[in-house]
Formats: sequence, structure tokens, C-alpha cells
Amino acid sequence: MNKYISRFSLDNKTIIITGACGLLGREICKALAELHARIVLADIDIMAAEKLQEELRDVYGASVTAFPLDISSEDSVNKLVDELSKQEVSIDGLVNNAYPRNITYGTIFENITMDSWRENIDMHLNGYFNVSQKIARVMMQQRQGNIVNITSIYGMLGPDFSIYEGTTMTMPAEYAAIKGAIINFTRYLATYLAAYNIRVNCLSPGGIFNEQLVSFVEKYKQRTPMGRMGKPEDIAGGVLFLLSNLSSYMTGQNLVIDGGWSAW
Ligand SMILES: NC(=O)c1ccc[n+]([C@@H]2O[C@H](COP(=O)([O-])OP(=O)(O)OC[C@H]3O[C@@H](n4cnc5c(N)ncnc54)[C@H](O)[C@@H]3O)[C@@H](O)[C@H]2O)c1
Repeated sequence: MNKYISRFSLDNKTIIITGACGLLGREICKALAELHARIVLADIDIMAAEKLQEELRDVYGASVTAFPLDISSEDSVNKLVDELSKQEVSIDGLVNNAYPRNITYGTIFENITMDSWRENIDMHLNGYFNVSQKIARVMMQQRQGNIVNITSIYGMLGPDFSIYEGTTMTMPAEYAAIKGAIINFTRYLATYLAAYNIRVNCLSPGGIFNEQLVSFVEKYKQRTPMGRMGKPEDIAGGVLFLLSNLSSYMTGQNLVIDGGWSAW
């Protein structure tokens, strides 16, 4: 009875989410709150994190703690780990979702400086390594855990630049390198950590609607078999699936949620 409902349960599971206050992070937190997970809301923007903490407590009665976290800093991640260990909290899940970028991020390919390239790789790719390694050490001791890396269809495919025509938007070259690397890092971690009962998967969203220019949105819709951009809840559903036991035999995989964009 209710075998699948119990497999879907995240009741009292402690889940860390990085970049929790952004477009996707907020929705993932709300989804986790509905399923009664204990949320560790980690973001570099501590004021936003504290505000979201209050909102989740008020609206959902959620068990949630806000932590200031810079994913690119070893000290910052060590502090988070120390704090959770002091509270004797076992870490059931980690969602690597933060989206750090420097001030020149978004420069067209031929104008990216080497310093800027290095800085973005350091903040984002190396940040995902930093958090994954330190949290995985705890999970290895626990002999259980679940890591979900938020990647992107642009870590799998080259962009269709025609959708940016007539706008100042582009798809940054660093992003392709960073997200592609995280997709394969996910596979490495999955095979390395399987012996410790730790699953590692990634989730690659397509473009999410966020009040972009109408001309861009129209082109995006036309290019997408489902005829629309993604919504944060489309992605949150996939995160719940990967974190729960509904996906118990799944590791090292890339769950693509893109309205069919990559099916062409
Ligand atoms: N929005 C999209 O269309 C889309 C599409 C595909 C993939 N993604 C991926 O989804 C994830 C979330 O994207 P989003 O659109 O919600 O981003 P967002 O910019 O809305 O939010 C990012 C969050 O990360 C936090 N952050 C930035 N630097 C940080 C750091 N060093 N340490 C900790 N937190 C930090 C920010 O404060 C912010 O709350 C990212 O990994 C992104 O690449 C987004």
C-alpha cells in the first residue's frame, strides 16, 4: 500500500540548496517545503536568504535554516559543514544550483579576456567542485546521500544564436564549458560515490521564462516543440524526482527538461 507515495517522500530529509534565492532556487525550496523536507537554504545573498527563510516558515510551516554561503570559498563551505555537524544533522541531499558570474559575464566570445574566463570558471565550475567535495566527504561517512547538479542544455548542445538576433543577449561561451564540465563531473562522481550509497545526477533545464524581451521569447517558443519556455515549477518537479527514491536506480544521468528543445 502506498509504496510509491512513500518512495516519493522527502519527509524530514535534510536538503542543502545552493543559490536558493534565485529564480529556480526559490521554487525548488517551495517544492521541498511542501514535501516537509528540512531545507538548508544556502546563498551568497544572506539578506535574501533570511527573507526567504521567513516566507517558507510563514507560508509552509517549513523547517528551514538560512546560511550565508559562497560556493567558491573553501572557508565558507567548511563553515557550513561545521555548523551542520555541530547540530548533528545528517545531510541527505545537496542541490548544486548557484549561478555565480562576474561583471563581464555575457561578453561576446571574441571579446572575452583570459582573466574573465578564468574568473568565471573559478566561481562556477570550481565552486560546484568545492561544495560537492566537502559535502560528499560527510555523505561518505554517513554511507548515504544524493547530489543533484543543475546544469543546462547549453552544456550538451551548441546554442542556436538566431534566437538572440536583434537583442543584446547572448549565450556566454564560459557557460558551455562550465555546464558541459559539470555534466561529465556528475558521471565521475556517480561512479566514484556509488560504493558509498550516494547517487549523483544532473538536471539540464532549457530556457526559463523570466520577462525576457518579447522578440526573444517568441523565437524561443517557435524553436521549442512544446511551444513555450520553461517555468521554475517544471524544473522543481524534476529535482524532487531525483532527490526522492522514485529515482532509486538512477545515477550518473542527465535529466533534460526543455520542452523538447534538444529532441530536434
Ligand atoms: N534560468 C534559466 O533559464 C536556466 C536555464 C538552465 C539552467 N539554469 C541553471 O539553473 C541554476 C539557477 O539559475 P537561476 O536562473 O535560478 O539563477 P539566478 O541568477 O536567478 O539565481 C542564482 C542564485 O545564486 C546565488 N549565488 C550567486 N553566486 C553565488 C555564490 N558564489 N555562492 C552561493 N550562491 C551564489 C545568487 O545570490 C542567486 O540567489 C544555475 O545553475 C543556472 O545555470 C538556469
